[in-house]
Amino acid sequence: MICCEMLNRKKCYEFLNMRKKQLLLLKLGIVAWLLVVYVLFTYQPSTPHLTQDGDKAQSLTHQVDKLESELRKQSDFYNSLVERLRSLQKQQEEQKSREEAEDLGLQDLIPEPPIQVLPVLLIACNRESAVRRSLDLLLKYRPNQEQFPIIVSQDCGHKPTRDAIMSYGDKVQLIQQPDLSDIDVPVKEKKFKGYFLIARHYRWALNQIFQKFSYEAVIIVEDDLDVAPDFYEYFSATYQILRADPTLWCVSAWNDNGKPNLVDIKNGSSILYRTDFFPGLGWMMTKELWDELGPKWPRSYWDDWVRAPEQRNNRACIRPEVSRTRTFGKKGVSNGLFYEKYLKQIHLNEVFVPFTKLNLTYLIKDHYDPVFDREVQNSQVVSLSEVKSDRLSQGNSYKIVYHTKDIFKRTTKALGLMDDFKAGVPRTGYHGVVSFFYGGRRIYLAPSNNWQGYNPSWS
Ligand SMILES: *[C@@H]1O[C@H](CO)[C@@H](O)[C@H](O)[C@H]1NC(C)=O
Ligand SMILES: *[C@@H]1O[C@H](CO)[C@@H](O)[C@H](O)[C@H]1NC(C)=O
Repeated sequence: MICCEMLNRKKCYEFLNMRKKQLLLLKLGIVAWLLVVYVLFTYQPSTPHLTQDGDKAQSLTHQVDKLESELRKQSDFYNSLVERLRSLQKQQEEQKSREEAEDLGLQDLIPEPPIQVLPVLLIACNRESAVRRSLDLLLKYRPNQEQFPIIVSQDCGHKPTRDAIMSYGDKVQLIQQPDLSDIDVPVKEKKFKGYFLIARHYRWALNQIFQKFSYEAVIIVEDDLDVAPDFYEYFSATYQILRADPTLWCVSAWNDNGKPNLVDIKNGSSILYRTDFFPGLGWMMTKELWDELGPKWPRSYWDDWVRAPEQRNNRACIRPEVSRTRTFGKKGVSNGLFYEKYLKQIHLNEVFVPFTKLNLTYLIKDHYDPVFDREVQNSQVVSLSEVKSDRLSQGNSYKIVYHTKDIFKRTTKALGLMDDFKAGVPRTGYHGVVSFFYGGRRIYLAPSNNWQGYNPSWS
């Protein structure tokens, strides 16, 4: 009791409790000892030849020894038992605290990755089987409906096409362009009426996406496109880059020079580029870009309008080495010859590239331009005939230099590249350079060193 006045009260009671327990144990020990002694003394060994006193004493000593060793063994056993129980308890406690730490860690350090909803807008009109073919592949590769809602916008009021779209039930959402009135087309452009209808449809559908449904971005496809297995993966990953770099204004799934003999099919599926040329044909834009372009959207030829310097404003798109879309539409408004010669031959990527797991920041202008420019600069200058001859060593990159539009045209025609310009920009061009793969070698068709920028009069 004295101690309780001197020490912390709680500690004192703990101390007293402990003493009580010790006393209790001591008492139990004494009782047990007495019992043992009693048993030993009253026990009559039945061994017949131990009859003399000396023998008796010896036998007793023997018995006590035996008992002692038994008790030791038991004590050892119980001690080790207690030891094991203690260590088990300790392990359990450690495990529990580790789990708690992990729970906390997950919440603090690994926030839920932001799921960017990227709707796919499919522009459709009256091609029933084409819509089915497009939708079948879009649905086949779609990883999940919440992240990639598919919205089919139908113009033209064609009932069989509408029925085809509706047969997909709630896997896709159908919206219908309501203005089916005839459209005013200048007499001279009568045969291009289709382009006017398409521009009107695009404006209406994109207003729905951004103004009515309030999406942040959209992936636009038409009803004549096959998509690659990693179509969604590609746009998911590049969306982050599109957002991060204001000098980018679109991501396209299309390589205009994506014919099998002009791309690195074997090893190039993960390669992406910047391009000053707007490729379209499966492409992504942000709401901000629509806010900018929507109000001045043209009445026709929207894609060439987009490529004009006033709209492009020096911005670039991302495009892949190997196309993630392929067009099968010959009956559309594009001309048939162009389709046969180029579009039909574009190779559709077959390898799934996990783009969202790759570091794509190399596509941001500040990283990309110095590397790209140096690479082109350092490539060995060769002639067209050398490239065609297959004599150049593999593994290196080469450069064919053009100074004039005619040299550019002659070279592209000889190699099967697209030879046209839009607003002075060659297809796939970046800083005037067209990159392609020929006979296992990386080739740059590059302007001379004193290049002053695109010449809009080149067409
Ligand atoms: C494949 O491409 C990677 C980079 O994209 C390159 O490092 C590697 O050497 C290439 N392999 C072959 C066989 O060309
Ligand atoms: C991603 O690549 C860039 C170069 O483009 C590099 O600076 C950066 O450190 C890389 N990030 C990671 C996480 O590897």
